[in-house]
Amino acid sequence: MQSATTKLRVFSGIQPSGGLHLGNYLGAIRNWVRNQDKYDNIFCIVDLHTITVPQDPAALRENTLDLAAVYLASGIKREQAMFVQSHIPAHAELAWILECFIPMGWLERMTQFKEKSGRERERSSAGLFAYPALMAADILLYDTNYVPVGEDQRQHIELTRDVAQRMNQRFGQLFVLPEPMIQAAGARIMGLDDPQKKMSKSLAADSPGHAIFILDGPDLIRKKLARAQTDAQPEVRIPAGPGVTNLLEIYRTITDKDWPAVEQEFTGKPYSVLKGTVADAVIEALTPIQQRYREIRADDAALMRHLHGAAERLTPIAETTLHRVQQAVGLR
Ligand code: AMP
Ligand code: TRP
Repeated sequence: MQSATTKLRVFSGIQPSGGLHLGNYLGAIRNWVRNQDKYDNIFCIVDLHTITVPQDPAALRENTLDLAAVYLASGIKREQAMFVQSHIPAHAELAWILECFIPMGWLERMTQFKEKSGRERERSSAGLFAYPALMAADILLYDTNYVPVGEDQRQHIELTRDVAQRMNQRFGQLFVLPEPMIQAAGARIMGLDDPQKKMSKSLAADSPGHAIFILDGPDLIRKKLARAQTDAQPEVRIPAGPGVTNLLEIYRTITDKDWPAVEQEFTGKPYSVLKGTVADAVIEALTPIQQRYREIRADDAALMRHLHGAAERLTPIAETTLHRVQQAVGLR
């Protein structure tokens, strides 16, 4: 076995904002699990990002444990570093320094900010605006090589590279430049109710048929898929419209089949067959995760110990980077 130090570093994170959905699983978590032995991994629960929009405190605590349990239940091994962002203060400290080197114009261009702030721009928090700086801090603190995420996060990783480069130019080699790791399959799962929109937690809150949640039971999964939007054609035809394409994409990602095989399997089939088969595949993938999730959540104390232990082990790595940066800019 390779030692941890010879492996390249992977860092990724998800917000504990509740309602983890199939997009999070297929676009992110499942890829972390599959590649975990190849890399030296750090998986974060980014609670500081979550409070950029209003949260209920009790729900945030609960969602933090839920997300940790889903990571483990999905197959992240116990020896991997899995921790809560706010447990390591260096994230917030480096974020502040980075914010002082990121022009406002870069942040203004971020599509996630534009989408999330919407028409409420003036009322949205300064934290939501500065969000990519905190994400850059997460990544840069650990000399990360690869960041496995869904397509929607590419722009944030580019900003991370830009600020790292800018500071490296000014101060010498401070940061490793990270690369996005975005898989071809499952990087952008669309809403079941509206395949023009990316499956997302916020849209799911307004429309129960929008997303399949990782913890949804079999009946609910079948029901949601049965109602998923399809095309005006009488049966599956290729090229299909966006709704049917999204169902085929979910299916091929979850079953690891390639497009030609999936097209052949469903061409000429009625939508009910497509939806039923996709439901079977989703249920088969999620049921064991749900069982393990329940076992893990039955012992929250053990889960907390795990999270605190990881934060303790990671703190010296984060502080080494932070001190290097503080020294470079004249804060030490
Ligand atoms: P978030 O829910 O925004 O915290 O996202 C957590 C992770 O899931 C990130 O890596 C996202 O890129 C990924 N993700 C979120 N929504 C989708 C989606 N609809 N399709 C694929 N990946 C997604
Ligand atoms: N912004 C990411 C999202 O919403 C979550 C995130 C925060 C993240 N910090 C990160 C992802 C660092 C990868 C690396 O999905």
